[in-house]
Amino acid sequence: MRTRPLKVALLGCGVVGSEVARIMTTHADDLAARIGAPVELAGVAVRRPDKVREGIDPALVTTDATALVKRGDLDIVVEVIGGIEPARTLIATAFEHGASVVSANKALLAQDGAALHAAAGEHGKDLYYEAAVAGAIPLIRPLRESLAGDKVNRVLGIVNGTTNFILDKMDTTGAGYQEALDEATALGYAEADPTADVEGFDAAAKAAILAGIAFHTRVRLDDVYREGMTEVTAADFASAKEMGCTIKLLAICERAEDGASVTARVHPAMIPLSHPLASVRGAYNAVFVESDAAGQLMFYGPGAGGAPTASAVLGDLVAVGRNRVGGTTGPGESAYAALPVSSMGEVVTRYHISLDVADKPGVLAQVATVFAEHGVSIDTVRQQGKDGEASLVVVTHRASDAALGGTVEALRKLDTVRGVASIMRVEGE
Ligand code: HSE
Repeated sequence: MRTRPLKVALLGCGVVGSEVARIMTTHADDLAARIGAPVELAGVAVRRPDKVREGIDPALVTTDATALVKRGDLDIVVEVIGGIEPARTLIATAFEHGASVVSANKALLAQDGAALHAAAGEHGKDLYYEAAVAGAIPLIRPLRESLAGDKVNRVLGIVNGTTNFILDKMDTTGAGYQEALDEATALGYAEADPTADVEGFDAAAKAAILAGIAFHTRVRLDDVYREGMTEVTAADFASAKEMGCTIKLLAICERAEDGASVTARVHPAMIPLSHPLASVRGAYNAVFVESDAAGQLMFYGPGAGGAPTASAVLGDLVAVGRNRVGGTTGPGESAYAALPVSSMGEVVTRYHISLDVADKPGVLAQVATVFAEHGVSIDTVRQQGKDGEASLVVVTHRASDAALGGTVEALRKLDTVRGVASIMRVEGE
């Protein structure tokens, strides 16, 4: 074992950073043995220097993150600040000054991953980010390394614990969205402002990262279609149950059937109860991967939280540490396939549409004609009438989102259609 320690700077010492520091201390001997060199915490950049941080030498704490990453003697910078700036500039500066980087920053990776990878490559350094997607669950390395010889066709994931907790509550208790959100907030699963989670922004960033790695293609946050789950109702869950399904907020990354393009999207969707993702309960995350040779794989575990996320950070720290000791770097960005990212209109899937209609002769025929005119084939129709009005539930065969959108627009114009109660995609069949 080499005796000169690897010097590590920690940018951010919140929920995740404090766990990283704790594990670095408590597992120091094991980490040294696994890496082949001791690891030394050389500095910790924080916003609030006066806060008491158990187990961290106050002499290491600084508010000047820029000066820390410019020291020039750092081996690894661990960035757990989150957000775009100052994280982006600090990471770039770390590379310029000779350090490799371990980051948990999904927003930055999804928005500026290409530039960060280019900077790492230019300076001959590593950029690892296992913790950026689904906390403790190993995903980046399995996709980037273990499946590097296979061809991934589809990644279907529950990558946001807050929304899975809310949807699971709605499913198991019959609660409405607001009631389930209130419980998630009271239990600390949802933040005071839950927008990033419930509107799907968090999951969209993760989808961009997963799609990029899975398809060896650059996929940016802007390429990801996004719909939140705030409009999902107890009635939607009742409809899902009638179909033998539940509802999940899914991140879906797909290669088109002809292999010539890819798509990435986040939206609520019905999935059959028989699908492994249907049994992912509470705030857990899971990602289902379909590939040519391996077939179907599922990765499951805690997708957030201090210690689970720190586990992923520490795994990267060991990997990058080993590379440093061996005088090498790990795999960088692989975007050679450069497949175009298609728009949502080209996505092909099944739909569950719930309509409020007049209950009189010819209505069903009228509705069916609209579907036919737009080339959308109907799989099943269920009608329940009451007092001259009826609820009509149509489940389609696979159709493009553009065709379905046109169908719904035309349905809304029919006098006999009082309203479109809900439109939900059906996935995982
Ligand atoms: N807020 C996220 C979640 C965790 O609820 O899963 C961080 O990405």
